Amino acid sequence: MTSPPTTQAMEQAERKPITVRTLRKMARDGEVFSSLTCYDATTARWLERAGVHVLLVGDTAAEVVLGYESTIHMPLDVAVALTAGVKRGAPNTMVMADMPFMSYQADDGDAVRNAGRFLTEGLADVVKIEADASLAPLVGKMARAGIPVCGHVGSKPQQVGLTGGYSSAGKTAAAAARIVEDACALEEAGCVLLLVEAIPPEVAELIVKKTKAPVIGIGAGPGCHGQILVLQDLLGLTDWQPGFAPPVVHLGEAIRDACRDWVKQVSRREATPHRYVMAPGEAEKLGE
Ligand code: KIV
Repeated sequence: MTSPPTTQAMEQAERKPITVRTLRKMARDGEVFSSLTCYDATTARWLERAGVHVLLVGDTAAEVVLGYESTIHMPLDVAVALTAGVKRGAPNTMVMADMPFMSYQADDGDAVRNAGRFLTEGLADVVKIEADASLAPLVGKMARAGIPVCGHVGSKPQQVGLTGGYSSAGKTAAAAARIVEDACALEEAGCVLLLVEAIPPEVAELIVKKTKAPVIGIGAGPGCHGQILVLQDLLGLTDWQPGFAPPVVHLGEAIRDACRDWVKQVSRREATPHRYVMAPGEAEKLGE
């Protein structure tokens, strides 16, 4: 027998699925949509109940889930599996899968096949690639194969080996113009969404003005159609957050304190209030 659904679960089931069309309409109507990273089914369930529109299974999982120093260590198979978990937890939310470092840069054929895996095995609705105009032909191939793509421009964490660390982008007019050109080229090639990271607001606003795809911003000012943050930053679970992601709650400390209490309960033998009861008459036979 299965337990009856909770009110929370029923509300979640009633939500209309979020699609690219939904986001386009919201963008047209000036309604800002929200997006957070997510890497597991349980959290996805709560984020869908919170009304988040897009869940990104980011390659930041390499850092916040797997503990690496940078996003380039994200294994493709793990990313696909995590994506499917998120979609199972939040079936009515748009799930975007971040294509890991080296899953799309070396060979277009492999890139299209890997992107396809995110849709078939990973149940993703959209894949995201960190890109500039030079990847427009690849976006075209993916689009022709029926794969919805989000082009990520501005600061690109997968380039950390070249840049020497995470940093902002588009601070000079020339650099900003290149980012705008990249965004336009990617949209023209078929990107259904754009994501802009760590760029000045006026650069993001120019991209919003010059393109038709909904633009999701992270550290790119309030002018974007949607906003995204890394969930662990928002919830105060990371030891350091970028300036654009101040935590709204200090969940790390709350977890530490709750678990510290549990450790104390365990040490006092108070931690298991529930007792299983032996069948009548069986306890007496024990040890006979
Ligand atoms: O991987 C990720 O979490 C991202 C966000 C920072 C946008 O790409």
